[in-house]
Amino acid sequence: MQIPNDLRFRTREAYSEAYKKSMENPEEFWGAVAEKFKWHKKWDRVLEWDFEKPEVKWFQGGKLNITENCLDRHLEQHGEKTAIIWEPNNPKDQTLHISYKELHQRVTQFANVLKQNGIEKGDRVCIYMPMIPELAVAMLACARIGAIHAIVFAGFSVKAIAKRINNAGCKMLITANGNYRGKKYIDLKGICDEALKETPSIKTVIVYKHGDKDFQMKEGRDKFWRDEVNKAKTECAAQIMDAEDPLFILHTSGSTGTPKGMVHTIGGYMIGTTYTFQNVFQPDPNDVYWCTADIGWITGHSYIIYGPLSAGATTLMFEGIPSYPDYGRFWEIVEKNKITHFYTAPTAIRSLATQSLDYVKAHDLSSLKVLGSVGEPINEEAWHWYNENIGKKNCPIVDTWWQTETGAIMISTMAGINQPKPRFATLPLPGVQPVLMDDNGKEIKYTGKKVRGRLAIKFPWPSMARTIWDNHERYKKVYFTEFKGKYSSGDGAYIDEEGDYRITGRVDDVIIVSGHNLETAPVENAINEHPKVSESAIVGFPHKIKGKALYAYVILYSKEDASEELKKEIKELVSKLQGPIAKPDKIQFVTDLPKTRSAKIMRRILRKIAAGETQDFGDTSTLVNPEVVKEIADHAL
Ligand code: WTA
Repeated sequence: MQIPNDLRFRTREAYSEAYKKSMENPEEFWGAVAEKFKWHKKWDRVLEWDFEKPEVKWFQGGKLNITENCLDRHLEQHGEKTAIIWEPNNPKDQTLHISYKELHQRVTQFANVLKQNGIEKGDRVCIYMPMIPELAVAMLACARIGAIHAIVFAGFSVKAIAKRINNAGCKMLITANGNYRGKKYIDLKGICDEALKETPSIKTVIVYKHGDKDFQMKEGRDKFWRDEVNKAKTECAAQIMDAEDPLFILHTSGSTGTPKGMVHTIGGYMIGTTYTFQNVFQPDPNDVYWCTADIGWITGHSYIIYGPLSAGATTLMFEGIPSYPDYGRFWEIVEKNKITHFYTAPTAIRSLATQSLDYVKAHDLSSLKVLGSVGEPINEEAWHWYNENIGKKNCPIVDTWWQTETGAIMISTMAGINQPKPRFATLPLPGVQPVLMDDNGKEIKYTGKKVRGRLAIKFPWPSMARTIWDNHERYKKVYFTEFKGKYSSGDGAYIDEEGDYRITGRVDDVIIVSGHNLETAPVENAINEHPKVSESAIVGFPHKIKGKALYAYVILYSKEDASEELKKEIKELVSKLQGPIAKPDKIQFVTDLPKTRSAKIMRRILRKIAAGETQDFGDTSTLVNPEVVKEIADHAL
């Protein structure tokens, strides 16, 4: 069996050649890659760009449908090949194998369900579903008819869903009644019903019944997935789309309370995800690939669904969690499905590494060929555990740096192409032009000596987000003003003597907890909602499992109110308003916060204290209240 469109370079030399070509003539390079896909009309121009506006257009004038690339074009030769393997939460339930042919049929039929419920090209559809095949079907069905999906992670709170639906102006919501994650039941429909009280744009809710727990249906608004499918015909021609039409909106945290609805467009995203999937993971035609992310995050969009399916691979979807029924579940799934490529996050690796090695040893992991990491810098300890115990020192670890905004992997180790190196994402993919910037906004020249700076990208790449939904000004401000004419990533990085990149983490106010990006502002707002709280500040501190956990400094109206009981109340409040992931691990009551004259909290000091350092706070002369630093440090938890 052949990979339908082989885009792989297979050696270090071929990578270097591809990279060189992509720098010298980006249009010719990406044009040649794009030729390998199915288009209804060829593009007029490969690239037009202006980072000042900012405006980026790839493959303008090109007409296509991404689902024809992910499904139809594989049918003739590989229709019977498994597209999706589904592993249910409960290992006693049946694993499903869905062929390309069957997936195609389910997608086209569900596309008709969307149509028969009034969804048209350009309409936004919110999807709030567990990791079941219907989630994949729903998103691809949207793409089939040119509707824009806005997926919300099925763990988010009522408020978070409502905000995202309203921001994107969604007409329809697709959900399930609920599902088990481990032993815990999540009442998805109940959560949706609450959110729907605040979302006037939603006209129809499609509910997939998954298991037999009770739930409510609202007449006229709610419809059963199966009833609707039974009414729908199976053929649905793909809507012919422009390359630059939006494919989806995915919300990510920002430094103010409103999430940013990143907009990805069809042509460039398809090409970027497929190209990187093939070249980072280097999959062979009969390989079985598993990315453990949730489809609610960009990693799931790009590397469970669009990249692998467009490449004609077999991709596994897992509904459950790594600890259920025990900590051997991941390894059981690897053994059972003969997984060759396993892609996960450092937070999962760290949590599994704290468990007995017997969970690993009980399973035959010899099918594994390539391991991957994404979501945050992987610490050396976790890297070695992964390498030794899972990869048996025989599988390259691809450390993949990228972002919701970049759509596809940007800097990464490539399996079999270059040498993995703990903590280093190593090399830019072809077409990616990273630069390090100093604090004065000047480009740092790399001359072979180690350099450190802020990571920016100076040339467009096909899979980059084009805008923030309904807020282009914000897109410009967040990504294109810090460094003139460049995309600013918000991450710090260095390049070592060998030319390898190491990403050191966020330089702004986003904290990554267990692989989830949390912005500080909404968590602080939630704490401040407690009637006894006057002000608060959140910082991250190193945590063995979560990578970072939250440390809250809280000022009370009345000092006398400080108590363990109140800490509990605050934690519960945050959990209710922002979801359990945002719950602070530590709360310290303080009388004041270190503030600059422009009333900005000096978070670097709070971060130091949270990390257990109580001296050497550097220059505190810009503070209006330097004396408070010692007081906070003396009472640190
Ligand atoms: C961080 C996830 C170091 C980084 C695809 C980035 C990483 C943010 C890595 C984006 C990595 C992701 N090494 N840091 N391999 N991968 N990050 O939008 O800070 O959820 O800016 O996208 O995660 O997170 P997001």
